[in-house]
Amino acid sequence: MLDNRKVVFSGVQPSGNLTIGNYLGAIKNFTAFPEEMLRFYCVVDLHAITVRQVPAELRRRTYETLALYIACGLDPEKNCLFVQSQVSGHAELGWILDCYTMFGELSRMTQFKDKSQKHADNINAGLFTYPSLMAADILLYQTDIVPVGIDQKQHLELARNIAERFNGVYGDTFVVPEPYIPETGMKIASLQDPAAKMSKSDPNENAVVRILDDPDTILRKFKRAVTDSGSEVRYDPTEKPGVSNLMTIYSCFTGKTFEEIEREFDGRGYGDFKTAVGEACADALRPVQDEFKRLTADKAYLEEVMKNGAAAATHYARKTLSKVRRKIGFVN
Ligand code: TYM
Repeated sequence: MLDNRKVVFSGVQPSGNLTIGNYLGAIKNFTAFPEEMLRFYCVVDLHAITVRQVPAELRRRTYETLALYIACGLDPEKNCLFVQSQVSGHAELGWILDCYTMFGELSRMTQFKDKSQKHADNINAGLFTYPSLMAADILLYQTDIVPVGIDQKQHLELARNIAERFNGVYGDTFVVPEPYIPETGMKIASLQDPAAKMSKSDPNENAVVRILDDPDTILRKFKRAVTDSGSEVRYDPTEKPGVSNLMTIYSCFTGKTFEEIEREFDGRGYGDFKTAVGEACADALRPVQDEFKRLTADKAYLEEVMKNGAAAATHYARKTLSKVRRKIGFVN
């Protein structure tokens, strides 16, 4: 424990324009934790460079991701918002944990397999050891709870295994973290291929709705969304994966249950339904977008937030690192 508070940690990569998958699966839930908890939300730029980035874009997206955190309701006075590369403890603990992570474990990570297929010309060592850096992010703050989408579950399990292995060798050092995966919204699918997850790097722009898309674009993308045979709005992920994905999105934005949605669109067909989903999404995102615009116009403020966040994070990171160094046998 860092102090007597429970700790929440999560991160988002500044590797593309964020989607409603990132929003509904993760960021929206970041605001759900009570003020009594110590809450860290990180822009994980070290992770982003496992895939080649254009430097100016990476920098811009780092500011933008931080601005989106705030625009989505995370008050920097009450949450520690920071940029990963500005707290050197992540890289330091990352290296240490590499030495307690097995080649076989990393080889089994499905994201590594997917990404190495997608980036066959750049299967670098960082892409491979990414999960141990992610474990370092989490364990550095003695995290109890990690809110993420379902695609991060395997990485979280590895982080738990690494923590337990380290604790087994050196005695209690790390808190073993628990994932917090929302029941509805944990996997928002692509609008063009309901079997695939909605991904910020999807080259097909119609497949993804971005948090910053304007209302017309949002409506257009939902109208073009792939649906299933038949015309009935019914939740059935196996038979009707497209419609069920849209129902999930609608449910997340409106708070309505699947039964309520089925009743609302009984006998009305897909066209009406898709328009309603688009409108609910655009309405819910409008205040976030307005706030985002205001924030990104004030770079000095964002830099101040980064600076304070990095200082606070460093303070806590040092506590864990000095314990780890002592246990391993490094000279302080
Ligand atoms: P990233 O940047 O890919 O995604 C950020 C968060 O959004 C969630 N997410 C989704 N949820 C539902 N449906 C989707 N289609 C969808 N797409 C993305 C992700 O699950 C994630 O919660 N490795 C992480 C970043 C990270 C991290 C950490 C997270 C680095 N260190 C420590 C938690 C704790 C990643 O690449 O997320």
